[in-house]
Amino acid sequence: MNAPKLSRRGFVRLGSAALLASPLLKFAPAAFANSPRPSSRKKSYPGTKKFVKLPDGTRAPALGIGGWQLASGRYPMEESEEAVRTGLSLGMRLIDTAEIYQNGNSEQAFGRLIAGQREQVFVVTKVDAPNATSEQSIRNSCERSLRYLGTDYIDLYLLHWPVADLPPVVNAFEALKAEGLIRNWGVSNFDVRLMEELYAIPGGKNCAANQVRYSLVDRSAEAVGLVDWAARKRLPLMAYSPLGSGGGVKTLLQTPAVIEVAAKHGVSASTVAIAWTMRSGSVISIPATGRAKYMSENARAAELTLDKADLAKLDGAFPARHIPSRGFPAR
Ligand SMILES: NC(=O)c1ccc[n+]([C@@H]2O[C@H](COP(=O)([O-])OP(=O)(O)OC[C@H]3O[C@@H](n4cnc5c(N)ncnc54)[C@H](OP(=O)(O)O)[C@@H]3O)[C@@H](O)[C@H]2O)c1
Repeated sequence: MNAPKLSRRGFVRLGSAALLASPLLKFAPAAFANSPRPSSRKKSYPGTKKFVKLPDGTRAPALGIGGWQLASGRYPMEESEEAVRTGLSLGMRLIDTAEIYQNGNSEQAFGRLIAGQREQVFVVTKVDAPNATSEQSIRNSCERSLRYLGTDYIDLYLLHWPVADLPPVVNAFEALKAEGLIRNWGVSNFDVRLMEELYAIPGGKNCAANQVRYSLVDRSAEAVGLVDWAARKRLPLMAYSPLGSGGGVKTLLQTPAVIEVAAKHGVSASTVAIAWTMRSGSVISIPATGRAKYMSENARAAELTLDKADLAKLDGAFPARHIPSRGFPAR
C-alpha cells in the first residue's frame, strides 16, 4: 500500500512507527499517493473566475460553497450533492466545512464529492474550539478531518472560534504546515482585539485568513473596524453567512434596493448580495444552499462587478452598523 506523501521533516517528526499507526496510512487513497502534488500556489481551478491572494501568494477561489448544512437532512442527500456538483462545475472550487458540521458528516460528504478532483478544489475546514486546547488535540482533529475529507492535505485550516490560549494553537498549526498536512492556517470569528493578540504571538502573523460573519444585513465586521484592519494588514477575510443566514436571507433578498440592482444587471438578488461581499477583491464568500438552482444563481456572483451607483444604493439601504451577535463583541 502507498503511504500519503509527508514532507521529509514530517516523516522524521512522526517517526515510521507513528506513521504506520497513523489513520492517514489507513486511509491513503492511491490516487493521491501517486499523483504529482502541485503546491497550493500552482493549483488550477477549472471555471473559477475570481481569486483572492493569500499572504504567501497562494491563489484561493474567491467564491466557495458553504458546507454547514450539507448532510443535515434539510434536503435529500442526492439533492444537496447535486447542488455541490453544480457549484464545482461552475467554478465555485473552494469548499468550506468544519469538523463540527453535522458531526463530521459534512466533511465526509465533501470527501466523496471531491474524490478524483482533489487538486482542482481548495479545501477549507476548521478545528472546533474545544478541540484546540493542545498541540496533540489539534493534531488529532486535523488527522480525523483529513481522513473524512479523503485527502492528505488541507489548503486552509481554521480555528473555528477564539480560545483563551492562542500560542499552542499557533504552534500546532505551524507544525502541521511544516509537515505538509495543511498548507495555510487561519482563524474565524476574531475581532480586531483578538487579531492583534494573535499577531503579537511568535508565528501569529502567518495567519492567512479570518472567517467572519459578513453580509449586507450584518456589516458588523466593518462597523467594528475589522474590514479596515484586515485591509491594512493585507489579510484576506472570508465572509460567512453572506446571504444573511436564516431569517436574514428573506430580509436581504426582498429589499427593493437589492432587487433594483439585480434587475439592472439581469441577475438574481442573491447574486448581487454575494457579489457585494466580494467587492474589495480581498474577501472570499461562502454562501450555502442545498439547491442546484440557487447554486447557479450564486455562482454568477464571481462574474458581477457592482458599479459606484449600485454600491451607493446598497449602502443607503444597509448602512454599516454594529449588530451585537455571537460574531463580534462591541468595541
Ligand atoms: N466560521 C463560522 O463560525 C461559520 C458560521 C456560520 C456559517 N459558516 C459557513 O458559511 C456558510 C454559509 O453560511 P449560512 O449557511 O449561515 O448562511 P447563508 O449562506 O447566508 O444563507 C444560507 C441560506 O440562504 C439560502 N439561499 C442560498 N442561496 C440562495 C438563493 N440563490 N436564493 C435564495 N435563497 C438562497 C439557503 O436556502 P436553502 O437552504 O433552501 O438552500 C439557506 O437557507 C456555512 O455553510 C458555513 O460553511 C461559518
